[in-house]
Amino acid sequence: MRKFIKKITHPFLKYALKVYYHKPRKYCYDSICVQVHPKVFPPHLTFSTKILLDFIQPLDLKDKTFLELGCGSGIIALIAAKKGALVTATDINQTALNYLDKNAKKNNLTVEITYSDLFDSITKHSFDYIIINPPYYPKKPKNIKENAWFCGENFEYFEKLFHQLRNRNNLQNIFMILSEDCDLKKIKSIASKNNFTFHLVESKTVFKEKNYIYLIN
Ligand SMILES: C[S@@+](CC[C@H](N)C(=O)[O-])C[C@H]1O[C@@H](n2cnc3c(N)ncnc32)[C@H](O)[C@@H]1O
Repeated sequence: MRKFIKKITHPFLKYALKVYYHKPRKYCYDSICVQVHPKVFPPHLTFSTKILLDFIQPLDLKDKTFLELGCGSGIIALIAAKKGALVTATDINQTALNYLDKNAKKNNLTVEITYSDLFDSITKHSFDYIIINPPYYPKKPKNIKENAWFCGENFEYFEKLFHQLRNRNNLQNIFMILSEDCDLKKIKSIASKNNFTFHLVESKTVFKEKNYIYLIN
């Protein structure tokens, strides 16, 4: 992500991105298309969303309860719903949730959409699958869009996430995507403090950057 952030701060690229993302842009996967608002995490430019989409594609999700925690565009939630899962999608970005509501209707798919800071407002107690593509750059987010990238100066996102996970039972198959560009050691240490371990289930290199999907036990 650091590489990506360096790239997007290059003046020319910054300008090009600003122009490209001044209006909602379409993103499609397996015949499901969504409109992504400029204030929402763009799945087009980053590879984590696509890697997770490819990861869930072969899973048997029929009638499984599925949570996409921090859903952004919600494309993962919609693909899970298409595969027959009972899907909950959450975020703290209300624009993302409003767009997901419209996109779900357009695609004739049902997703339970909840505004929630991590697990704060999630009332359901058990999920068969939880998918997390977290913000992991250690900086305080300045606005709602930056919550997609920055996890707080002291990794507050992860501190709260693992603390909340520790206090919940019946959560199975928690998958998180991270990259070699983030502070894996720090994130794993926060998990370990809360009695969680990371088990690597997939590693994928895209444009020289290694991405990892972990099962969190
Ligand atoms: C890297 S983006 C991933 C979006 C989407 N899951 C995907 O893979 O395309 C991270 C998402 O987490 C959301 N987020 C950040 N902090 C959050 C929090 N405390 N609670 C819920 N969602 C949060 C952001 O708004 C953003 O939509």
